[in-house]
Amino acid sequence: MGTKSQAPSPAAAEIDPADPHKGAKVREMFAGIAGRYDLLNRVLSGGRDQAWRRRAVKMTALRGGETILDCCCGTGDLTLLFASAEPAPARVVGADFTPEMLRIAQKKTRELAAAMKLPAYSAADGLRLPFADASFDVVSVAFGVRNFQDVNAGLKDLIRVLRPGGRLVILEFTPVRNWFWRALTSVHLNHMVPLIGQIVSRSRHQAYRYLPKSIGVFPDAEELKGRLEGLGLREVHYRKLNLRTVAIHVGTKG
Ligand SMILES: C[S@@+](CC[C@H](N)C(=O)[O-])C[C@H]1O[C@@H](n2cnc3c(N)ncnc32)[C@H](O)[C@@H]1O
Repeated sequence: MGTKSQAPSPAAAEIDPADPHKGAKVREMFAGIAGRYDLLNRVLSGGRDQAWRRRAVKMTALRGGETILDCCCGTGDLTLLFASAEPAPARVVGADFTPEMLRIAQKKTRELAAAMKLPAYSAADGLRLPFADASFDVVSVAFGVRNFQDVNAGLKDLIRVLRPGGRLVILEFTPVRNWFWRALTSVHLNHMVPLIGQIVSRSRHQAYRYLPKSIGVFPDAEELKGRLEGLGLREVHYRKLNLRTVAIHVGTKG
């Protein structure tokens, strides 16, 4: 289990967001940092990351008795927030293609009091979800879409498993276009995050150098809204957080 950072293999040593083997390398990267992933999130976000996830749950506007898929669930932080949310969902599934991350999600879930509808976990690739069409009321992804080998293909599959009227919720870093906000945030993102990430993960994994690179080539919030509308979602809206570096999009399947 990935509680200790492993030495990076050549495959994990460098990830280019345009690499045709990006998926396999991303999985290897998360396998290597799984044991320190939650700590890294807390440190690098200044303790704010759980508040962003709570905001995503709030923006989902749960109706009670719904089925929820949290894709790219990683160590299960958003999955567990959905599972303990009110009004309570009927079923929550977390899916991820990195077994080391899922094992931590399962351990955290076992340690919780069974006061909630405990989520189930599925080892699944977000580009080929093993679920029937229209099987969830809500599909969420936190910090996962940016890692997809093919972002549009991933978004299409997430929408495929949504029921008509269901909501897709995306919590993701977003490129900052405005020069003022970019100047304000770029030292943290481009220098502090890779440095602190490397120290805290105690490894030479490239995860936290890959982060600013992958954000730079990801569509900005307005572009992502357009893409979601192009894929058939309606009422797409978003909110930016954390000095405009993080965005939450919500759209409804027509
Ligand atoms: C940055 S972590 C986010 C984890 C979690 N959602 C959170 O909020 O902390 C990204 C996760 O996406 C997963 N992932 C990336 N690409 C994936 C894919 N194609 N299918 C399934 N999981 C994927 C990785 O294994 C990793 O656990």
